[in-house]
Formats: sequence, structure tokens, C-alpha cells
Amino acid sequence: MPKKGTTKKEAYALLRGMKDILPNDQRYWDFIMQRVQLFARNYGFNRIETPILEPASLFTRSVGTDTDIVSKEMYAFVDQGNEKIALRPEGTAGVVRSYIEHGMFNQTQPVKMFYFSPMFRHDRPQAGRQRQFWQFGFETIGDQNPVMDAQLIHVSYKFFAELGLPIQVDINSVGCPNCRPGYIKALATYLKGVKKSLCEDCQVRMTKNPLRVLDCKEKGCQEALVDAPQIIDHLCQECKDHFVQVLEYLDELEVNYNLNSKIVRGLDYYSKTAWELFEVGKDGQQDALGGGGRYDGLVQQLGGRPTPAVGFACGIERAIARLKSNDIAVTPVAAPQLYLAQLGLEARKKCLSLYETLLGKGYTVAESFSKASLKDQLEQANKLQVKYSLIIGQKEMVDDTVLIRDMESGNQEVVDFKKIQDYMAKLLRSEVKNGRVED
Ligand code: HAM
Repeated sequence: MPKKGTTKKEAYALLRGMKDILPNDQRYWDFIMQRVQLFARNYGFNRIETPILEPASLFTRSVGTDTDIVSKEMYAFVDQGNEKIALRPEGTAGVVRSYIEHGMFNQTQPVKMFYFSPMFRHDRPQAGRQRQFWQFGFETIGDQNPVMDAQLIHVSYKFFAELGLPIQVDINSVGCPNCRPGYIKALATYLKGVKKSLCEDCQVRMTKNPLRVLDCKEKGCQEALVDAPQIIDHLCQECKDHFVQVLEYLDELEVNYNLNSKIVRGLDYYSKTAWELFEVGKDGQQDALGGGGRYDGLVQQLGGRPTPAVGFACGIERAIARLKSNDIAVTPVAAPQLYLAQLGLEARKKCLSLYETLLGKGYTVAESFSKASLKDQLEQANKLQVKYSLIIGQKEMVDDTVLIRDMESGNQEVVDFKKIQDYMAKLLRSEVKNGRVED
């Protein structure tokens, strides 16, 4: 916020933890979006976008009251209608609400949906952690087959692996309401014995939500957990069978996975499979690129009929940071085909309508109508790496012509204004055919 009481107006600054996505970075965002759409099409997911604002209780009931995401990080407030609402901290709860509200259980199951949306967590801002960040997420609702877990793990893995990123999936099973309570009891007993070695947060977590202690990053806590009981040894037969099948499918799909008993996820709705994605060799020291899991109880918990489901989400800013740090080339934005330059008021008027005509014909055209100097305009055309400039100055106005300049060779040709569309069509067509234009 600008300072009060000063005569000179202070400029506004971003809120802490928020980031602008600047035009220069857009190509990375377009690139990720295009890949998300490609994967969605290939694997049969349709886009869903739910509102950013939802009733706060949607998240307390799904993500869980005792999770950091809800208890510490959720932007929740009472609105003008006295309703307690929240900026969504994640996408799954909204998608499930929508699935129930729109009776999607009447459609062919599973219903496969994806989103590409901003999320909000009042986290401590640091590298890779923002208060507004974007996720793309894939959700498969209405199928309990372990092959669905494997497909989504594979999609999340392949998304990064195909870019050449060294990627690893850390996977675990967090059990189900039948077997997890037994494990939590055993874990809580163990934690009591090592309480003094745990950090302050974990001393609270061990009574409220003991599973959370497992993914604490504090060195002391990790050391204290070395002999902790492992959930794998406490899984019921159904969860065990499910997990084994998921792993078999992953072997078949050649996914680079790693069994990791510490993957318990920061959200309460998971059952059975849970996974996170890391750049190889960097787990533990860095934040995950993505994470997901099965959430068989969530639809019912939010008021729907019992419906199994599985999904994942990835942080887009974190993905883009990896593209940059690994020098992964994203497709550059194509240069416009044409540049329209004008000299004088009448020429500018003529160019305004020619510009619309050319756009209407499907060409990509750049211009700087506000610039008066031809030199400045051609410099701009060069900067944009445009192949041809169309110039209308005073002479062209009198002759009713257009000067076509090949920006690479500098060759120029005068073309009758009425013939300009045919001429450009031929020029650009022969360019596509021959790779270059014959003079
Ligand atoms: P999550 O693990 O909380 O899962 O978030 C998924 C990803 O979002 C993280 O791996 C990370 O890349 C990114 N992310 C999370 N917090 C931040 C932050 N503060 N700043 C930048 N990026 C962040 C979920 O949200 C679940 N809804 C995933 C899911 C979908 N499970 C089932 N379906």
C-alpha cells in the first residue's frame, strides 16, 4: 500500500506472496497450457473451472480442519451477506462439489476432468511458495480400479519426463478408514516416546494429526522418525492388493517410482494411493512439483453417494521454474507475418482499414499506428522479425499502391493497392512451398 500523508504519491506494490505474470513469461504459460490440453485430449479429460470463492466449510470438511492448509493458510472471511467464504486453497473440493451439484454420477463413469486455475494459500512466501499460485489438475471420479491410479500417476510423470526433466514419483499408500486408525494409534504411541526430539509444531501435530509429523522437514523430526512404524505393515488386505496392483501397472508403464513411507500428503481426504513428484535427487531439499492420490471417501463426505475417485495437481510456477533452470526450450511465439507501416494522416487512415482486412484474411499483422517516423516503424518490424513490411506513404497514396519490403533482403516492390490481397496470398503461399520467395 502507498504511504499515507505524503504529498508525493507512493506507487503501489504487489501484496506479499503474489506475483504478476508478465508478458515476457507468457510463452512459458502458453507452453504448459498447450501440453496440459494435449494430455487432456489424449487421455480423455474435459476441462472444468469452478469458482475461486466457495463456502469455507467446503474446505474444512474435505481438506481437514487440522491441516496446515486450512488451519493456517486459508484465506477465509465473512462476506457482505454474512456468509463465511474462502478463496480456494486447492481444486479438488470444488470439482467434487460440482460433480455432486450437477448430478455427474448420472453420466458414464468415470467422469474425467482437468483444470488450470489459481489457488490461494497464506503460506510463508519463499522460493517456490506463493500466496497465489496456479495449478493444473486432473481428476477421475467414479472408478475404483487401481489402473486409474496408475494412469494418473503415469500422466503426471510423463508430463515432466517428456520435457527431459529427470523426474521421480514418490509413492505410498495411506490406507483406508479400516486400517489407518490402527496405524495412527501405533504411530502416536511411537511419537510419545520421541516427543522431546520433535519440533514445536510436531509436538502439537502428534496429538491432533500424527500422520503430519511424518512429512515434517525438520532434521530433528526426521531423525526421530527413523524407527517409526510404517503404514505399509498396517494396511488391510484390500489396501495392500490395491497398492500392489498400482505398482505392477507402473512397472508396465516404466514409471520411475520410489516407495516412500513418508508421503502422507498435507490434505486429509486421501485413502490408499498417495504420490508426489520430484526432480530426481532433490526430494527432501525442495518442494514437490505435484502431488495426488485416491480420495474414495470425499464425494460421500461432501454429500454425494459413495463414489471412488483419484487425482493429482501440479504447481505451474514450479514447473516453469524447472523449465528455466533446466534450459528447456519452449516454442517461441511465432513472428507476425506482416508489418503495416504508414507515413502521414491519410496513409494512416488507409492502413487502419487495410489492417482489419488483412486480419480478416487470417494473416498475423503487426503495426505501430501511433508512430510517425518510417525509420522507427521499420526498426520495430525488424525487432519483431517480420518477413514483409507493407508501406503506404504519400507517394503510394497518390498512386494508390503499396510498397512491399522484404525485411531480410531489403528488396522492395510496388503493388497496386487493389491487388494487394492476391499478391500477399501468392507471396506467402510460395514462401511456404519453396522455403523462400523468388523475386
Ligand atoms: P498439493 O500437494 O497441496 O495437492 O498441491 C499440489 C501442487 O501445487 C504442489 O505439489 C505444488 O507444486 C503446488 N503448490 C502447492 N502450494 C503451493 C504454493 N504455496 N506455491 C506454489 N505452488 C504450490 C493439492 O492441492 C491436491 N488438490 C492435489 C490433488 C488433486 N489430489 C487429488 N486431486
